[in-house]
Amino acid sequence: MNKKTVRDIDVSNKKVLVRCDFNVPQDENLNITDNRRIVSSLDTIKYLLEKNAKVILCSHLGRPKGEVKKEFSLSPVAKELSRLLGKEVKLADDVVGESAKKLTDEMNPGDIVLLENVRFEPGEEKNDEELSKKFASLAEVYVNDAFGSAHRAHSSTAGVAAYLPAVSGFLMEKEINFLGTALENPERPFVAILGGKKVSDKINVIDNLLEKVDTLIIGGGMAFTFFKAKGYNVGNSVCELDKLDLAKSLLEKAEQKGVKMMLPVDTKLGKEFSNDTETMTVMSNEIPDGWEGFDIGDKTIEEYSKELKNAKTVVWNGPVGVFELPKFAVGTNKLAEVLASLDATTIIGGGDSAAAVEKAGLSSKMTHISTGGGASLEFLEGKKLPGVECLLDK
Ligand code: 3PG
Repeated sequence: MNKKTVRDIDVSNKKVLVRCDFNVPQDENLNITDNRRIVSSLDTIKYLLEKNAKVILCSHLGRPKGEVKKEFSLSPVAKELSRLLGKEVKLADDVVGESAKKLTDEMNPGDIVLLENVRFEPGEEKNDEELSKKFASLAEVYVNDAFGSAHRAHSSTAGVAAYLPAVSGFLMEKEINFLGTALENPERPFVAILGGKKVSDKINVIDNLLEKVDTLIIGGGMAFTFFKAKGYNVGNSVCELDKLDLAKSLLEKAEQKGVKMMLPVDTKLGKEFSNDTETMTVMSNEIPDGWEGFDIGDKTIEEYSKELKNAKTVVWNGPVGVFELPKFAVGTNKLAEVLASLDATTIIGGGDSAAAVEKAGLSSKMTHISTGGGASLEFLEGKKLPGVECLLDK
């Protein structure tokens, strides 16, 4: 990465504002159900503590839309951080108000304060200049470690960087390095697996990846739009009829670029979206009316596995079936198992694919699991991320 990191700046005895992405899933009692994003932020926090910095953490949680709403409080995050660090993490009652000022003024080196949910401030998502200045007034150095939010140009992810020396944290650096190397300098063969429901969500990713990969494996709901574009019947499967021309042009581009674009040769169907539904597997060009495709079939699993076995770099974004329903999680789980067994760099885009690998118990077998869903997608699209662009160049 060509941006400065915490290693490149003096932080001793300084107040350091660290933007993290603590946007973690919670159950109905607000218990954190997956703490990976918090755990991933610990390297930077521990480094700053070792350097005797005064660590001021901030993050968003959910989408409270500029209003203070108790259910979006970072209180559970403060508790989890305290537990993981074995150290008190004081939670301010507000974001940049009296409580935040008081707590940050009273800090000693090695102390940690967490500000309340930055999205309680109406200016946050507007990247409001006044709010950015208020964030900056709390600290002497700004560190952005929130890769998951790096595609957002908000006050705490980008705006504040105009008013303080701004560098990246270790998580941000790691994410950019893994994804960046895969895209720009991959060991070949380079295979990408793209799943998920809609072609429209992934157009730009497919378009960009067709410039980079040797093989593009398609799964998930978006396969049916490609099938339809090829003239197949898709029954009741999800299909974006307004994207057929686009699907055709992507298939053409793959051919022009010499990229092997693989679509499922067979498809596992169900009568309805339920784990108890009747199922059958057919060739993908023989899907009958009244049935809906929910997973890739066994022949496809075999073909995809064979292709993956030769890969040296794999990037995976989006499950290849409805992995929430065990009956239709087979394809996703089998591909996860193949990836886990490869002698290759395996990078899992955040969001659903990361959840699927986690559910399959194979996270530790992957080279890198991104903490960013939307952010990793925008990175794979080749877009510049505002949360990275705003940092100091090396
Ligand atoms: C995410 O979960 O993808 C990030 O935390 C960003 O959240 P947002 O989509 O609400 O901006």
